[in-house]
Amino acid sequence: MTAFALPQITARIESPVASAVRKGLGSRPRRLPPWLFYDADGSRLFDQITRLPEYYLTRTEREILAVSSAWIIAKAARSDADDADGNKPVQLRITELGAGSADKTRLLLKAAVERQGTVLYEPVDLSPTALEAARARIEREIPAVRVAPRVTDYTRGLDLMPAATGERRLVVYLGSSIGNFDPRQAARLLRGIRAPLAPGDTLLLGVDLVKDEPTLLAAYNDAAAVTARFNLNLLARLNRELGADFDLGAFAHRALWNPTHSRIEMHLESLTTQRVRLASLDLEVGFSEGERIHTENSYKYAPGQAEDLLTAAGFTPDSTWTDARGWFAVCLGRAE
Ligand code: AVI
Repeated sequence: MTAFALPQITARIESPVASAVRKGLGSRPRRLPPWLFYDADGSRLFDQITRLPEYYLTRTEREILAVSSAWIIAKAARSDADDADGNKPVQLRITELGAGSADKTRLLLKAAVERQGTVLYEPVDLSPTALEAARARIEREIPAVRVAPRVTDYTRGLDLMPAATGERRLVVYLGSSIGNFDPRQAARLLRGIRAPLAPGDTLLLGVDLVKDEPTLLAAYNDAAAVTARFNLNLLARLNRELGADFDLGAFAHRALWNPTHSRIEMHLESLTTQRVRLASLDLEVGFSEGERIHTENSYKYAPGQAEDLLTAAGFTPDSTWTDARGWFAVCLGRAE
């Protein structure tokens, strides 16, 4: 009988967190992807950030929606073709990407209910808990909305049921979430959103605009240090989930404005020369004093840039709404 030597298979079962951390901390400069912020503690901290006096983004976008939701809904429900055709109104169905608590979307949903009596709302998010909270809140506050949540990672492509005959889809992507992707990733993401849409469907995109540097920096460096805790929670998460021994007092939150790339960058800076062990990864990482882990980019757009992004992804820019200071923009693009 012949004996065969079986090949050695060393199967390493890796979670998405483990492989992202192994890759990011193994690279130079060191980096960690921003989606790692959003465990339960990080999501709570982000919620606090949206209510900070310095974090103008959420408040400003809400102001725009408070003034313009009825107009946005009317635009989304009507195309030039309909106008030429004698104003044939359609039923809108609203799909929201990264719905979270669906707080600002309520303004759009109320406007849609006023216009068409009832509306189907499809919040899409990775977190089933966030979706359930959004569903409970919307059903309680606006009973005319039918909520159909979808747990999925829309950044990996969006597969949607086609809208019914006589129905048109409005996809809503708010909160400057697109700003956390670099221009190439953002273009790919928008093409992925466009792919399942039918001509006449629309995308409503919320983007943060370039403004004076002190205002931008304050939004990511608040006096109450909530953003610092949000950033450092990433290391706390690695301690909890990967058995790491990051000393949170030995890293500092840094936020800086990078004018070349028109983005706020967040980093965690090592305050000393140190070694950190990540037990579950069987990995040890050395940091020199002043060395940084790059944790987030938040791109700020010049007027017109978001419309260019929409065009490149196969949408025709229809209308853009901004606040009185021109700090934030909400752009509607129509699928061609
Ligand atoms: C979710 N995203 C749009 C936020 C932003 O402003 O880039 C995340 C954030 N990071 C620090 N503060 C808020």
